[in-house]
Amino acid sequence: MIILKSQQEIAKMAFAGRIVAEVLEGLKNLVKPGITTLELDEFTEEFLRKKGAKPAFKGYRDYPATICASINNQVVHGIPSDKVVLKNGDIISIDIGAVIDGFYGDAAITLPVGDISTEASRLLKITETALYEGIKMAVAGRRLSDISNAVQACVEGNGYSVVRDFVGHGIGQSLHEEPQIPNFGKAGQGPRLKSGMTLAIEPMVNMGRWEIQILEDNWTAVTKDGSLSAHFEHTVVVTDNAPEILTKL
Ligand code: MF3
Ligand code: CO
Repeated sequence: MIILKSQQEIAKMAFAGRIVAEVLEGLKNLVKPGITTLELDEFTEEFLRKKGAKPAFKGYRDYPATICASINNQVVHGIPSDKVVLKNGDIISIDIGAVIDGFYGDAAITLPVGDISTEASRLLKITETALYEGIKMAVAGRRLSDISNAVQACVEGNGYSVVRDFVGHGIGQSLHEEPQIPNFGKAGQGPRLKSGMTLAIEPMVNMGRWEIQILEDNWTAVTKDGSLSAHFEHTVVVTDNAPEILTKL
């Protein structure tokens, strides 16, 4: 069942989403060569708690941290560590969930560390564009897979591939609600979108092939071919007109 949210509930989600957006803004300034992913995690947890929010991922299926910090060929779910020091030319995907007053926000960005190659920079740009192409389809009356198809068309049209093993999701009083939102598929399928649906849309895009594997820590997903990967995510509300992005300032 896809849970529709009232205006009051959407206001609470907007509050959670705003905190996630704010902390991501702070992280943009912190990400530079020399900082560790554990320091980014600590900054994030402290920020969320100061705002009265709680990390959504910590403890979720025993995930040990506040953020997911995935570098270069890591796709998602990289675990922060004091051993992982960012270096010039890296790309880092940071995924953050927060819960406050019973409602969740979830967003991710991939950032350049110092100066990155033009190829890497194009990957980030296209992945973010693919997210926005998907978001454009989050309008009442359309079908769920219109989002999936728009993301896939943008990604593959630019010569990259879409990760198949992870999906976007409904979000609200749980981090993960129905429906699942694949980043690929034929348009015009799945449930009809309705005003008040709240969705976390999150393309994961590989520069090479789409296949991934999971490392021995049982979390970190990496590209099988070693190619770079990027991840952008927003929590959005479906309306009768333009979708409303909750995790954007
Ligand atoms: N954005 C991802 C998701 O919503 C992050 C989950 S990480 C986990 O599915 F640690 F919570 F699993
Ligand atoms: Co998510």
